[in-house]
Amino acid sequence: MTEISKMPNSLEEFWMPFTANRDFKANPRLITGAKGMYYTTHRGDKVIDGSSGLFCVAAGHGRKEIAEAARSVLLELDYCPPFQYAHPLSFELSRRLAALTPGDLNHIFFSNSGSEAVDSSLKIALAYHRAKGEGQRSRLVGRELAYHGVNFGGLSVAGLVNNTRVFGPGLPGTLHLRHTRLPEHRFVRGQPETGAELADDLQRFVDLHGADTIAACIVEPIAGSVGVLVPPKGYLKRLREICDRHGILLIFDEVICGFGRTGKQFAADSFGVVPDMITMAKALTNGVVPMGAVACSDRIYETITGAAPETAIELFHGYTYSGCPVAAAAGLATRDIFEREGLVERAAKMAPAFLDALFAFEEVPVVTNIRGYGLLGTIDLAPMESPGVRGYAVLQQLYDAGVMVKMTGDSILVSPPLILEESHIEEIFGKIRGVIESH
Ligand SMILES: Cc1ncc(COP(=O)(O)O)c(C=O)c1O
Repeated sequence: MTEISKMPNSLEEFWMPFTANRDFKANPRLITGAKGMYYTTHRGDKVIDGSSGLFCVAAGHGRKEIAEAARSVLLELDYCPPFQYAHPLSFELSRRLAALTPGDLNHIFFSNSGSEAVDSSLKIALAYHRAKGEGQRSRLVGRELAYHGVNFGGLSVAGLVNNTRVFGPGLPGTLHLRHTRLPEHRFVRGQPETGAELADDLQRFVDLHGADTIAACIVEPIAGSVGVLVPPKGYLKRLREICDRHGILLIFDEVICGFGRTGKQFAADSFGVVPDMITMAKALTNGVVPMGAVACSDRIYETITGAAPETAIELFHGYTYSGCPVAAAAGLATRDIFEREGLVERAAKMAPAFLDALFAFEEVPVVTNIRGYGLLGTIDLAPMESPGVRGYAVLQQLYDAGVMVKMTGDSILVSPPLILEESHIEEIFGKIRGVIESH
């Protein structure tokens, strides 16, 4: 038996991702248990989860239904190759997901993470144009300040300098729309009124490079990791129109936004724009088993499959663990919980109280901006001597005070589990206030 509550013999060998390893190992923040809205630390303290882990534990921690579904499938079918073979649960989960996605996004391709979902979607876009006889469409368009995971495709279309500068220029021919973080967007609750015209950058790329060179444009409907940039009113619709005019595929990266975070099933529903593909991951299995997916339109699926001979593989892409039994079982159990407990509706119901508490920080001197939509919000803090120094101190102080959040630089990202009650909103923001008022 592995002992989760036993202090490790050594902290040295595990190279932690996206972590200040040396400082962590000097002052570890180890988590040894979780239930509902709370973590337990290795010191036995309770820490409220203000970030759904990393945006993924939407239905709260320790859901027995998911653990039992995973356990029972593991005892019946541990593994099944997903190339040329399949098990029933991946079909069933695809059917359930296709019923949730907007428009005709009826075909689901599984991956094991959001990063892989993003790279899969980019490759599917290229394969689609090739199948249509437009293989010269190879440019991919992303956006400044975007986060699309850490693989080379996603890095190429993303726009966060710290994540990319060490790793070279990325895919050739990639273009970036300007971001929508405008100086006049100060303390805007919901969608900013200005900035829709920034979508016209895509038209400029068409004019400059030719539509027939551009395969796809990928955006996070709400840019999450950088600190919740809500799209200006009309912006996504304008992107959709330009894509339609020029045969460019529109991909929404809903790895954070998907499954109720915005108060609707997908941000595509919240903003009334149907893309050609949606990438999803985080809340798909409630964070229990790694899994990502791409939902593709009928047109994309039929074009790619239709272009190959009957017995030929149509898309030379996939992962050893695509839709593996334990992930599919966890995904189905998560869907059941969402439906039974009406979690998407619950998110919509709790959003006003959440946003009220978030925007109550406007008067705190160290706060420079606040943005929020649904159950997703950010409080920007004034940087100290260099960017991120205050943010890191605040992360540690919040943890000591008993609340977990995601920090990006000097921004506090709050995205609680959708099961939260008003008392949890008070606790999360009360603890945040206690810390940042002392800065
Ligand atoms: C929008 C978006 N895309 C992709 C990813 C990458 O997901 P993963 O960490 O599961 O690879 C993330 C992760 O935060 C994300 O926010």
